[in-house]
Amino acid sequence: MNHYLNARDLAGEICYQPTFFQTKSRVKYLNQKYLNSAYLRDRLEDLPRQFINPQSRPWQNIDWNSISQSQIINLELEVFLAIIKGSLDTEAPIRDYTQTSRQYLETIHPQMARFVGGKVRQDNAIIELGLWEKEERQHTPALSKIYQQLTGEKVVIGWRKPKSYNPSDNPHRDLYRHGLHRIITEYSAVCLYLWLMTRTTGTIQQILAELLQDEINHLTKFWGFGMWLYSDKFRQQIKARSTGNSYHSMMRLVTTFHRMMKTLAWDYWKINYKIELIYTFAKVLENMKFWSSTLTPEYLERLFGSNSTEIINIK
Ligand SMILES: [Fe+2]
Ligand SMILES: [Fe+2]
Repeated sequence: MNHYLNARDLAGEICYQPTFFQTKSRVKYLNQKYLNSAYLRDRLEDLPRQFINPQSRPWQNIDWNSISQSQIINLELEVFLAIIKGSLDTEAPIRDYTQTSRQYLETIHPQMARFVGGKVRQDNAIIELGLWEKEERQHTPALSKIYQQLTGEKVVIGWRKPKSYNPSDNPHRDLYRHGLHRIITEYSAVCLYLWLMTRTTGTIQQILAELLQDEINHLTKFWGFGMWLYSDKFRQQIKARSTGNSYHSMMRLVTTFHRMMKTLAWDYWKINYKIELIYTFAKVLENMKFWSSTLTPEYLERLFGSNSTEIINIK
């Protein structure tokens, strides 16, 4: 392993027997790279551009056959595979997710509805895919390929039935509840893939970097859009988590976290993995909140308000 000493990868310096502090510095490195305010601002300002001319972000070339167990850093293969399997069960079935979100958005913001779920005919046949779906639907095959290369077996996905569209008499409240859930799911995916990048290298890490960038892209867009549409409610939510009753806000975070962890075989994780992932959750949230505090109502209105198309290139 000597030739790997002081080698660097997408998450900074590689350590094959990492201490908590070494993994922590890899988490920080990735946060600075992918969750700095300029990067997040760019991802949000991309949204009105995508309303007009939807273009999915191209992936780098990936040498799928070079995936190997040696690219996993000091993490048991069974645990790694259980996490990949759990992620797959959460990612699929993307079509149902996008169509539910599209329906909640349709009457409130048709452009955003098109971004997530594309266009459908009267008989519900899809005539154009949403950009969110186009990007997300690459995740299931990518994770399946990692699983297959590592085990020589095809993974069996535990298809879940996502909640379907269930409107009340208040579309704004429906969308708010639905949107918060979407944001939490994207946020959890960001944290999980970011942490997995600290525990991998080579091709596996490269694939996770693609997934991570997609999830950050979506999280930023949904978050910023939510801030614009529900400015007061949303700001209160974030504030409650940072100042208000810290015990209750912490408990809410823990509940969300537990729900997600159940699908990822959390019980088999060593304590250091758990601490690293909790640290990642806190660090990502810190960066998101810092960026979020820079989003003034005027700025968001210029992006998403009725005159937004005139100022798409604001800097
Ligand atoms: Fe995804
Ligand atoms: Fe996602």
